[in-house]
Amino acid sequence: MHECREVAELRTWREARRAEGKTVALVPTMGFLHEGHLALVDEARRRADAVVMSSFVNPLQFGPGEDLDAYPRDEARDGELARSRGVDLLFLPAVETMYPPGAETHVVPGDAGVDWEGRFRPGHFDGVLTVVATLFHLVAPEVACFGQKDIQQATLIRRMVRDLQWDLEVVVVPTVREADGLAMSSRNVYLTPEERVEAAGLSGALAEAHRAWNDGERNASAIVDRMQDVLGGLTALELQYIAVVEPDGFRPVSTVTPETIVAVAARVGRARLIDNITLSRGLQ
Ligand code: PAF
Repeated sequence: MHECREVAELRTWREARRAEGKTVALVPTMGFLHEGHLALVDEARRRADAVVMSSFVNPLQFGPGEDLDAYPRDEARDGELARSRGVDLLFLPAVETMYPPGAETHVVPGDAGVDWEGRFRPGHFDGVLTVVATLFHLVAPEVACFGQKDIQQATLIRRMVRDLQWDLEVVVVPTVREADGLAMSSRNVYLTPEERVEAAGLSGALAEAHRAWNDGERNASAIVDRMQDVLGGLTALELQYIAVVEPDGFRPVSTVTPETIVAVAARVGRARLIDNITLSRGLQ
């Protein structure tokens, strides 16, 4: 595995792959890798000849008071994990490499980014789309892989690619979960053992939504009520939203379909956690 921090080196590597006729898949991350990221690498390897992973804690997507400084980092361990899973190039840019002095252009999402995460984290998606667009330009991948856990993010990236007529495929990879259903996230390290138990309530509520679907329930409010019953007794879990939305625009629906997304967000102690399912598929 090759590691690089500079754009010129990245471009040289990319040119060499092009000259060899090889396709490239990109896995953008913020480091502190877990099995969820490594599942993205596995998918990327299935879809392209070479895999680039970027590891960059993107300051632009953190709001004031969020955990930019505390965000967990372990570059040495990430390097080992990336290497062992078959990443070909690990790109580790500095902030000034990604955003040269004076850079001020942002990519702003449309209506699909206004509500839910967009409301609780103003500016977050501008930061995500700006860094992802920059990475797309630098790496010029044929394929890019993102996790379903951040489903609104993945949807906005897909829409950006469609709207800007980018010639690349965005692949959304199912969420990887702990044994009790908790979605893997770098932020799970913030949880105390007691909070960790309650955090699993989020996936428990999503599993209940799927049960409701299987029982024949098609009314969105009734599904939310069943989820609230699961979350009701959890004192450490401060629910921020339950979204029952259509998958392209993230607009609320009153009657659900197989493709309806049910997404949840909650604060549990220091951690802000998100999770979601496609209703008919349930926890994946
Ligand atoms: O999902 C993430 O880890 C980040 O939002 C991403 C896509 C790497 C952009 O910084």
